[in-house]
Amino acid sequence: MRIELSKWLHVKEAFRSKHLRQAGYTEGAIVMEGTLLDLHGVEHRERRRLENRLFRREIFSYWEHEILGKTIDATMKPFVEKGAGDLAQIGYRCAMNLTATIAGIDQDPRNEEQTELLYSKVKKFSEGATIMHSTRDKDEVRAEVKAAMDSFHKDFFLPSKTRREELLSDLKNGKIAEDELPRDVFTTLLRNAETLDLDDDVVFREICFYLQAGAHSTANAFTHTVDDLFSWGEQNPADLDLARDDLAFVQRCMHESLRLSPASPVALRTPLEDVELSDGTLLPRGAHVVLNLIEANRDPEIFGNTSTVYDPHRDVPDGVARWGMSFGAGSHACVGAELDGGLEIDETRPTGDSLYGTVSVMVHALLSAGGRKDRDNPPELDMNSERKHFAKYPVVFTSEGDD
Ligand code: HEM
Repeated sequence: MRIELSKWLHVKEAFRSKHLRQAGYTEGAIVMEGTLLDLHGVEHRERRRLENRLFRREIFSYWEHEILGKTIDATMKPFVEKGAGDLAQIGYRCAMNLTATIAGIDQDPRNEEQTELLYSKVKKFSEGATIMHSTRDKDEVRAEVKAAMDSFHKDFFLPSKTRREELLSDLKNGKIAEDELPRDVFTTLLRNAETLDLDDDVVFREICFYLQAGAHSTANAFTHTVDDLFSWGEQNPADLDLARDDLAFVQRCMHESLRLSPASPVALRTPLEDVELSDGTLLPRGAHVVLNLIEANRDPEIFGNTSTVYDPHRDVPDGVARWGMSFGAGSHACVGAELDGGLEIDETRPTGDSLYGTVSVMVHALLSAGGRKDRDNPPELDMNSERKHFAKYPVVFTSEGDD
């Protein structure tokens, strides 16, 4: 039995119910089995507690102030120097390099060829995770995913593992200090593999999962934020000029784009027992429950009668995030939410304490480098996708010209 939930309150309750189990990854087990998103109950809580140590505000602050700028500059430089590029390619390369750093896969962001190679593997992992929606021959897809995982294992995973094991041994022998260890998921898992009884295969899949979860969503949010800003800027040129200077305003725009275009449009759950929502809606045990984030994020009862319209200046009710539920909620809520989206906007917070998030920093870097839509070469939508995905989105970098 399939039940779709589209109202804000229904989706919020479903996300928070401990009787609803993650669903939808059984067929994608090749990448997803035993990963954080796939676990339930105590096992999930323990793994999450461990990995969460990395996703703390001090670490985000270190990341935003020390790592992000350098990685984005190195990745964007060739495009800015050429004076042109494609939004999707720029977004994916930045997102790939940044996510590799968080996951713990060693990767030089200046090496375009290696970044492309890693990205081609990670794209396959995404295809493997979402295989239940694939219209292709599933065995064929599985064989391609397996090949991508094997070559990633040899070319990226093992060298990164060896380096981390050496560093951990150096730490044990007093040769390096604790703060010289990389702050990434891989190092955290290797340090705690015994305590949590993690075998090599689970650690490997967890890293594959992190790479695809982080890279795809970050790149998707980047493209939508820039596209919405360019469109909004046609009627509101002063706002586009503001965005080129003001990172805080870009963050506001990013949250609004994320609300309207969540990177994961649905979340799937199955009730482990009959669950009744507070208004009496029944979710019977074993049902296939679809949490429709696109619709919930446009619920007029929460976002008013302009809920479907892009408006970065909108007010939202207290207790509701500007990005809606695009980062999920409840026990599986996205661990990367603050990393990518920054802290919730609070006009009273001192600027020095603000965090704007990876996506806003990427968008701001593109705009402040003079990134503009290429007037002679308009973007094209991907006709094979029901959702708004771009097949190409050419941009130019100029210091002047009209938006
Ligand atoms: C704009 C960017 C992002 C969006 C929109 C997003 C969205 C989401 C959503 C909706 C979920 C919950 C899925 C569910 O409940 O079924 C989730 C979970 C998760 N996300 Fe993100 N994500 C983003 C970026 C990232 C990044 C950068 C990382 C890591 C580097 C990340 C890592 C994870 C992990 C590990 C989980 C699983 C958490 C758990 O099961 O406890 N995400 N994300």
